[in-house]
Amino acid sequence: MEKQGLRCRRLVLVPCPLQGHINPMLQLGSILHSKGFSITVAHTQFNSPNTCNHPDFVFLPLLSDDSSSARNDSDDFVVFLSSLNLKYKASLQELFTRIVEEQERHEGLPCIIYDALMYSVEEVAHSLKLPSIILGTSSAISWLAYFAYPRLREEGYIPSQGSKSMGLVPGLHPLRFKDLPLYDCKNEDRILELTATLRNIGTSSAIVWNSIDCLEQSSLSQLQQQFRVPNFSIGPMQKMAPTSSSSLWEEDHSCITWLDKQTENSVIYVSFGSLATLDEKELAEIAWGLANCKQPFLWVLRSDSVHGSNSADSLSDDFKETVGERGCIVDWACQEQVLAHRAVGGFFTHCGWNSTIESISEGVPMICSPILHDQRVNSRYISHVWRVGIELENGLEREEIEKAIKKLMVEKEGEEFRQRAANLKLKAELCIQKDGSSYNSLNKLVELIMSV
Ligand code: UDX
Repeated sequence: MEKQGLRCRRLVLVPCPLQGHINPMLQLGSILHSKGFSITVAHTQFNSPNTCNHPDFVFLPLLSDDSSSARNDSDDFVVFLSSLNLKYKASLQELFTRIVEEQERHEGLPCIIYDALMYSVEEVAHSLKLPSIILGTSSAISWLAYFAYPRLREEGYIPSQGSKSMGLVPGLHPLRFKDLPLYDCKNEDRILELTATLRNIGTSSAIVWNSIDCLEQSSLSQLQQQFRVPNFSIGPMQKMAPTSSSSLWEEDHSCITWLDKQTENSVIYVSFGSLATLDEKELAEIAWGLANCKQPFLWVLRSDSVHGSNSADSLSDDFKETVGERGCIVDWACQEQVLAHRAVGGFFTHCGWNSTIESISEGVPMICSPILHDQRVNSRYISHVWRVGIELENGLEREEIEKAIKKLMVEKEGEEFRQRAANLKLKAELCIQKDGSSYNSLNKLVELIMSV
């Protein structure tokens, strides 16, 4: 296919309006734009991406009668998704129809790329005979864990896991029942419904994963067998093409100036991503774990991190006096830049998939404290399969936090974690270089897009 033909092909991206989903979708947009495609982003008005950061993309808002954006706690996630999919279906139909009508004849039909969680897009695209491709933004292993639910229920393992929480899940070793994404979720029927919906990819032509063969080869192969269409793993996406920030919060760059003053590998970076919330006790445990470990730390504390109060106000004066200049606390950081900084020697994380893959790409070992959903699966893989992190087994507890930080940052064992993380970083780099697995997958994806 000639270059001119490539340039003409329009891709319409439909991200799920959450930070951890917008980032990989816009990264994929940048990667495909660098291959000559034109990119349009159909986005909700709540959590709308910052359009100025992506001058090469066209942004089109989706409208809904119901303006509520209410995010929710973990148990309501399925309800949130179902309402999101319902609310924007009519607007998607209207927008896709308009795009098709306005399309010049020589341009060909646009191809739709949608976040797996925006599953209603497939039906709309199909009704207009538009080809569609799915983007999976979580780890391949977490998808397999979701898909195992019906089987585990049939075999009688759930819902009665309770006392067996530490037992290994049949067919998913080394995951334990307590690592399953919806282990403590109360409404299993809704989960099974969602799982069935995600499993049915309808007429979509392919699935793209923000993952790397060197990390998840076996899980990716299993997914390839489950879905009939080609699967492409083209991670780490943030490394595949120059990408602008797609932060929904304003990034505080003063933390880079603070990091510049710290010695190499001395700082523990702390962030629990964009969704997780803490209670006041958990906040105090983290704070005192950090204060007592004596290492410098950079802590992202979103103002909405703590239920019912402004997070920073909840920190005691005693804590602030104890840590002084040793701690830098910001609302939101430029995380990729932070993880790439020479001063950062460890990442105390909730194990969201983006954070996990970003940390691995920079060779930064982790302390894992998963809060919800897929994070538990990722945490288990970080600590027990790739062995580049230490998992906190008893939740957020100050002494365990202090011990883990010292082990990772100061003790001899920490050096072994750092070495393994450095090796994994090298493997990830090879995947995106010429003839690496992600490099080749991307070329195959481009060919597929041109053929659908
Ligand atoms: C959740 C899930 O846990 C995750 O696995 C899923 O794929 C998406 O939804 P979230 O809590 O947003 O994710 O965490 P994560 O996946 O780590 O994504 C957070 C993103 O925000 C990362 O790309 C990170 O670089 C960015 N970030 C985080 C910042 O830019 N600044 C910050 O201060 C903190």
